[in-house]
Order: sequence, then structure tokens, then C-alpha cells
Amino acid sequence: MRIKVTVIVENHSGFKKGLYGAHGFSALVEGKVRVLVDTGVEGNVLLRNMKELGIDPDDIDYLFLTHGHYDHTGGLKALLEARSGKLKVVAHPGVFARRVALKPHLRDIGIPFRREELRAEFILSKDPLQFVRGIWSSGEIERVTWDRAVGYLLKDGKLIRDPIKDDMALIIDGVDGITVITGCGHSGILNIARHSRNLLNKPVKSLIGGFHLANAKKGILEEVVRNLEAEKLYAGHCTGMDSYAYLKGKLGGRMEPLYAGRVIEI
Ligand SMILES: [Fe+2]
Ligand SMILES: [Fe+2]
Repeated sequence: MRIKVTVIVENHSGFKKGLYGAHGFSALVEGKVRVLVDTGVEGNVLLRNMKELGIDPDDIDYLFLTHGHYDHTGGLKALLEARSGKLKVVAHPGVFARRVALKPHLRDIGIPFRREELRAEFILSKDPLQFVRGIWSSGEIERVTWDRAVGYLLKDGKLIRDPIKDDMALIIDGVDGITVITGCGHSGILNIARHSRNLLNKPVKSLIGGFHLANAKKGILEEVVRNLEAEKLYAGHCTGMDSYAYLKGKLGGRMEPLYAGRVIEI
């Protein structure tokens, strides 16, 4: 399957006039069907950029949520309200968990909506799920090496470290390899690539999204250079400027940046 990936929301706004940059991620995958991956941080940014890019909210067949953080789910309610029909939303059952960060101050970082207020048809699975022929939700990602989990879960009035079990990737089965789209990469980018390759038993041709390497120690970046199983890397969002620069220096043409308006054809 040939696919086109259009980045709609990203921390940087790229080169096209009229697009907003905002902390978060959203991208549209167009193949046999149209799958939106995440909704960015705010409805107004998502809908503005969709309009500028000529994407009609009603043309989306599925929404895939990579995880429940606010910067990936914040545009969800506005997107649903901008549509005339119900949207099918594929996510992990833990996507609605109440989550907080303590630094730089106590704040909510989970999905800013309750399930009841969202006019959507949720397809929730923690197991791998091929929801359209050739298009998979990774399910929970096996962590054999370091992950990049952040924040806390609020459960029964107590704070417990959040493993972000709901972190999943979208995997598209291609002719000569798979394309993997990750939101924040909290499961660890090495684990995500490995899990995806094992699941479909095909090499990773392109890995697209946030790699969550901001402030990563040099040892972690060296491991990424040595062990990341992907032919081509398109990294943005929470990859971190310093880490991006380091990896670009080592990987050269294998690595490219993401920005709102970026189109990748595979
Ligand atoms: Fe994120
Ligand atoms: Fe996140």
C-alpha cells in the first residue's frame, strides 16, 4: 500500500503560510482509508491547520490516539463537533486515565475530556488490532530496554508513577517494509521499532513522530544510533532539539525533521 502522511500539528510550523505551530502532534495517513493520528493540543490549532491544508473533518475515516496526554488529545472534542457523523476512535482502554505532572508545578496532563462528553465510537484495545486491512494498532508495546515514561497517575487520591501503558503506535503494512507512526514514543523508540517489526515480521522502512529524547543522556542517544531498527527516521515533537541535532549529525540523510505541513510519501 502506498501512503501519504501529512503532518497537521507539530511544535514547529514549517514553511507554509497560515499554519500554526503548537506543542503536540497530529498527522493524517492517507492510503485505502484516511486515518488521523492524534489531534494536537487544541481544537483551534487542529481545525485551522486542517483548513489550511485542505483536509475536511468529515473525510476522516478513523482516529487513532497514540496515548492519553493532553498534547495529543486536546483537539478531539472540537474535531468531533466539526463533523457531521460519528467518528471511530481506536485507542487503548487506559487513554482516559487521570494524569498529572509535578514539575514545574502540579498540573493535569491527561486527556482534558470525559468519555461521556465525546460523540465518538470508541474501539478500545490493549492488544494489537488490525482495524483496517494493512493498518494496525500496535497494542501495548513490549519494553525490553529503556522507556521514556513521564508523569503520575492519580488513583484513589494517590500519585503513582505513570508507566504510560496506553502508549501505542500506528503501523502501516507496505510492500517493502512497514511505516510506524508514534506520538510521543514513551515506550522507548527502540522498543517501538522492535515491537512493530516483530508484530508484522517485516523491517521498519519509516519511523515517524515524537521520539521523546529531549534531555536524553548521551548513552541513550548512542544506543539509538547503534540499534534503532528503521531505514528512515522522521523525528519531531518531543524528540528535543539537542537530541535531534546529535542524531542528525550521526545519521545524516537517514534522519529528517517534522513540521506542520510536512508531507511524506511512502
Ligand atoms: Fe507529546
Ligand atoms: Fe506524551
